[in-house]
Amino acid sequence: MKPNIINVSLNNKFNDFSYPIFIDNSLLSNCEEILKKFVFKRKVILIHDNFFSFECKNNEQFISFIETIKKLTESLNLISIPGGDTSKNISQLEYILEKSLSFKIDRSSLIIAFGGGVIGDIAGFAASILLRGIDFIQIPTTLLAQVDSSVGGKTGINSSKSKNLIGSFHQPIAVISDIDILKTLPKREFLAGMVEVIKYGLIYDVKFFNSIENNFKDILNYDQLKLNEVIYKSCKIKSLIIKNDAKENGKRALLNLGHTFGHAIESFGKYNGTIIHGEAVSIGICLAFRLSSKMGYCSQIETERVVSFFKKLTLPTSLKDVKNLNITTSKMLKKFKYDKKNKNNQLTFILNEKIGKSFIKNNMDENILTEFLNDEI
Ligand code: GLY
Repeated sequence: MKPNIINVSLNNKFNDFSYPIFIDNSLLSNCEEILKKFVFKRKVILIHDNFFSFECKNNEQFISFIETIKKLTESLNLISIPGGDTSKNISQLEYILEKSLSFKIDRSSLIIAFGGGVIGDIAGFAASILLRGIDFIQIPTTLLAQVDSSVGGKTGINSSKSKNLIGSFHQPIAVISDIDILKTLPKREFLAGMVEVIKYGLIYDVKFFNSIENNFKDILNYDQLKLNEVIYKSCKIKSLIIKNDAKENGKRALLNLGHTFGHAIESFGKYNGTIIHGEAVSIGICLAFRLSSKMGYCSQIETERVVSFFKKLTLPTSLKDVKNLNITTSKMLKKFKYDKKNKNNQLTFILNEKIGKSFIKNNMDENILTEFLNDEI
């Protein structure tokens, strides 16, 4: 079997670094060839969430993945943490660090992050600071993690101030995305992941957006070929964007379309499942387009096209859809102040000229933003 492979190559001043993303069906039950190179005889710590492991107890792919690792190494240790974004905190991180050290790891040990974005982010962060940095592999099991969080090396946890404020850039040595595992995803999670897929079309590639629009029914019905294609294309676009900007000093920030609004909205939900990341970003992208239109950057027609597509997917598109979160303009503005894209206390937003073309808007005028939010809430 030959899976699709994307090579993520990162250029920087000091060295070049690259790693493969493997994308295909049935990868977890056929991954010995792939894993051999990365796992052979190393001490492995597999980090997963307890919800997923419960679901997977009888999942043949999960069992056969574990069996494969056992064939390649005598030392496999499992660490399980509670599922969900509330686990992305300092005490769960400490638990992972201490538990990993208790397995007497050394610098050749390997962490495998097996799960969604939360697991990938926290396990990757642990890998980046254990013994000053050890290797890790991402096995993303949600659509969102397969197309976004597993690729590009952003790792971290949340702070009480906002999302993902504590972390590091630490690239995985490989990403293995098995499309079949997505069948175990609840519909809500799948739709939330679709938001990040659509995001790539909106920021970078109108043809990709058109094709998602035309094929969305098949994609939502898990059509293998079409799903494979959109995951491949999403990772390809992300790898092109981060190639020359691994640490987000420039264009990588475009990948944050809808995320300044989204992170703020998500934090109003206290990460307890009231609103999940992709849903908050869905509202965030619609807000970013409406703000772009209000400021004269993007036509109203393009904005309406985006919003009605999200509506068609039954995703939330407005702050009015989340009245239960008691969002106010002043509280939103306070949360924006913690955004990592800001410079010299000036707010930065990602806006759009049209579908397929985002840009970075520095020094955002707070009066415009206040007026905009007052109309939206
Ligand atoms: N999720 C945005 C990025 O990786 O840069």
